[in-house]
Amino acid sequence: MSQLIIACDHGAWVLKNELVQHLRVRHALEVCDLGVSGPDSVDYPDYAAELCHRILRGEAQRGVLLCGTGLGMSMAANRFKGIRAALCHDEFTARMSRRHNDANVLVIGGRVTGPGLAQAMIDVWLTEPFEGGRHQRRIEGLDALTTPKPT
Ligand code: RB5
Repeated sequence: MSQLIIACDHGAWVLKNELVQHLRVRHALEVCDLGVSGPDSVDYPDYAAELCHRILRGEAQRGVLLCGTGLGMSMAANRFKGIRAALCHDEFTARMSRRHNDANVLVIGGRVTGPGLAQAMIDVWLTEPFEGGRHQRRIEGLDALTTPKPT
């Protein structure tokens, strides 16, 4: 079982490769890298879906998704019940996404966030614990949300 799964689209492949190195070297994590590893254009929902399916199947507990802004990947990943994908822009949002939201997927924009900040966000996100308590009730509320039937 990989300890972490990572995927990106063409908008963030350079940052993704840097983060894979960081995760393997600094954190000694076994990383499953779903790609991409080059500039050829792909569709981010395909990569988000593959990563989320693997997490929901129990292949890893946590994942990191990257696209140009992080927006498309976070929108796609949050379609999956049980996935709590947090688009973060700094160490504060990365920390709070763990403390309050028990985020199991960290999303970063490769055209927004530089490598130094992205590494610092990952460092915080990997170590910060979930606080539980009232926040547990709220994340259970997320999974209880339903889509209304069209009238
Ligand atoms: C690709 O050009 C870009 O749209 C994608 O990486 C992402 O930013 C979408 O939300």
